[in-house]
Amino acid sequence: MSRYLVTGGAGFIGSNIAEALVKRGEDVVILDNLSTGHEGNIASIMGDITFIKGDIRDAAAVRRALSGVDYVLHEAALASVPRSIEDPVLVTDVNVRGTLVVLEESRRAGVKRLVYAASSSAYGDTETLPKIESMAPRPLSPYAASKLTGEYYCAVYSSVYNLPTISLRYFNIFGPRQDPESQYAAVIPIFVTHLLEGKRPTIYGDGEQSRDFTFVDNVVKANVLASRCEKARGQTVNIACGAHYTLNEVFAEMQRIIGSSISPEYAASRPGDVKHSHADISAAGSLVGYSVEVPFDEGLRRTIRWYREVRA
Ligand SMILES: NC(=O)c1ccc[n+]([C@@H]2O[C@H](COP(=O)([O-])OP(=O)(O)OC[C@H]3O[C@@H](n4cnc5c(N)ncnc54)[C@H](O)[C@@H]3O)[C@@H](O)[C@H]2O)c1
Repeated sequence: MSRYLVTGGAGFIGSNIAEALVKRGEDVVILDNLSTGHEGNIASIMGDITFIKGDIRDAAAVRRALSGVDYVLHEAALASVPRSIEDPVLVTDVNVRGTLVVLEESRRAGVKRLVYAASSSAYGDTETLPKIESMAPRPLSPYAASKLTGEYYCAVYSSVYNLPTISLRYFNIFGPRQDPESQYAAVIPIFVTHLLEGKRPTIYGDGEQSRDFTFVDNVVKANVLASRCEKARGQTVNIACGAHYTLNEVFAEMQRIIGSSISPEYAASRPGDVKHSHADISAAGSLVGYSVEVPFDEGLRRTIRWYREVRA
């Protein structure tokens, strides 16, 4: 049994990772300030984990959470492009300074490896698809810039301080427990809950923008593999499905699964949004042994089933 610290473990992705680690019999510590996460997300595992309510920018809290920890899975962040445009200073403080504190305390604690939740937003609009790690990053929002900066610090801590790190660039993750309520919610939870409630969701832009939507179980698997990947030292790899769907296609597929004829409303596109996103996932395969476990359509069915059950 190993001891894992999952920062942001009360959030959408972190809680799915923590739950999977508990199922595997690992020892799990969660550090989360509950700013966007909820204790309800970890209610089913609360008795099996150590939960510390604290901020990643607070070195003493991070030090306490790191006691006896082998592996760090750093998920905590303010994870929203629109929020970063409204409040770039706060988002940068949490995502950059918070990541630096987690890296510094991890180095001092002598952890075996740190896996960083990076973001595909770092690419911005590339001239060609799919997006591959060798492309020059072109962040289009404070959020993207902050997540990219976190990657750079992970690489620096690997080379300068010999702390093994790896950055996983997630591409539009969706699945159970993704929050539909927040004003910064992602499209899939908004679309699904609106359709289930008989309401019209809004699509910003013409709906022809595309994303490599990735079911959360794939990210969980990537984190488990990456934490044990001896080869990885400071690299960045894409984690996605390696396919892409437009928002109009996703919406139509949801209508079909749910059996709804409600149509979306269209509004002006939002600043900071990239037009197309589609990943090359070969590096994740060769470096960490990653492959897609749950493809998009199966993930969408499972997600809709989960929101239906929660509402019932
Ligand atoms: N969801 C996606 O599609 C996606 C894509 C790319 C990258 N990511 C990254 O994955 C990670 C998890 O994202 P998510 O979608 O689960 O978001 P989320 O908001 O559900 O989870 C983030 C968690 O971090 C916690 N947190 C925020 N600030 C904190 C702080 N200062 N101290 C301690 N805890 C703090 C929140 O309370 C929350 O529980 C983030 O780093 C995000 O940037 C997500």
